[in-house]
Amino acid sequence: MTAAAVLRALDGPLAVEEIELNPVGPGQVRVRLAAAGVCHSDLSLANGTLRQPLPAVLGHEGAGVVVETGEGVADVKPGDHVVLNWSPPCRACWYCEHGEPYLCLHADDARAVPFATAGGEPVYAGLGTGAFAAETVVGAHACIPVPADIPLAEAALLGCAVLTGVGAVTNAAKVRPGQTVAVIGLGGVGLAAIQGARIAGASAIIAVDPAPDKEELARSLGATHFVTPGERLPKEIRGMTGGLGADHAIECVGRGDTIRAAWSATRRGGTATVVGLGSAQDPVTFNALEVAYFARTIVGCMYGSTDPAVDVPLLLEHYRAGRLNLAALVSDEVGLDGVGEAFSRMRSGRGARTLIRF
Ligand code: APR
Ligand code: ZN
Ligand code: ZN
Repeated sequence: MTAAAVLRALDGPLAVEEIELNPVGPGQVRVRLAAAGVCHSDLSLANGTLRQPLPAVLGHEGAGVVVETGEGVADVKPGDHVVLNWSPPCRACWYCEHGEPYLCLHADDARAVPFATAGGEPVYAGLGTGAFAAETVVGAHACIPVPADIPLAEAALLGCAVLTGVGAVTNAAKVRPGQTVAVIGLGGVGLAAIQGARIAGASAIIAVDPAPDKEELARSLGATHFVTPGERLPKEIRGMTGGLGADHAIECVGRGDTIRAAWSATRRGGTATVVGLGSAQDPVTFNALEVAYFARTIVGCMYGSTDPAVDVPLLLEHYRAGRLNLAALVSDEVGLDGVGEAFSRMRSGRGARTLIRF
């Protein structure tokens, strides 16, 4: 039996229950979690903004130790430390063969199949990962090995916030040295994007969040400016970028109005990169003049346009060289029964990442 935080109904509590993991099948791996971050996408799955079969064990930003491997698994063995990839590429489909593994046609396959039972009833793994559990069973493709000297609590953050936020800047926006970058939304993803912009050599990094208490942390991670959002946001950002607008805006909230603000905040010819995953009922509007006239680019970005197997080692190089501060992203630590508390902090925009420690 494995302790897990189980969501049984939309907007319901995530109560800690005992689940029975399915036996480890061919190509699968059982991982004992050391830590899991609580991401806004977990909240979006729990409130129905993103779809998820229930009951489910959410949690997709995890790291831990391999305890058992199924038939045919060659890349990891018991005892290995791994970060979990919630969008594991099959390496064989059209997208995988065309260098876009983050859009793999089979990345969602594990989401539709139960990974455990509770009282005989099937239980699904949120984003195919199920990291809000002491142990989980995932495909071997979902395990990215990390060296044993990397603290697993910090490694967990790589699994979503850091791959997504840094990747958005380096892989999707492709920010070049000297460019100006606005980062809208300073949760785990946005704070990682700020660090990505600093690593990329941005000349100005404008951090945007309604919570003024995010300023100090944002500046410590590389932000050169901080501003709270409002109708004047695009104008204020133009004021900070020589009247032009930012070369890049990175949207890390997932709302129509912030996506629109990100677009309006860039210069003519600039690029807005949208990381936030919002609601299908929340539109973003453009008028028929401005799209061609401003000649901007809007880039959608899944999982930071990364290949975790390639990008996790790169991020670890930044971490070892002191360029990537993972610990700073964690504002709160809780036990498995603290997911609800993390959700309420997130709803009110308080804190950065809450980390579950097992
Ligand atoms: N303008 C700017 N920031 C905002 C606004 C706004 N109008 N409204 C909310 N925010 C801030 C919040 O104050 C919070 O600091 O956005 C931040 C969001 O942080 P988290 O809830 O921790 O979200 P995170 O996990 O970082 O994910 C961000 O990326 O992967 C997606 O689904 C995820 O859409 C979500 C986004
Ligand atoms: Zn996430
Ligand atoms: Zn594929």
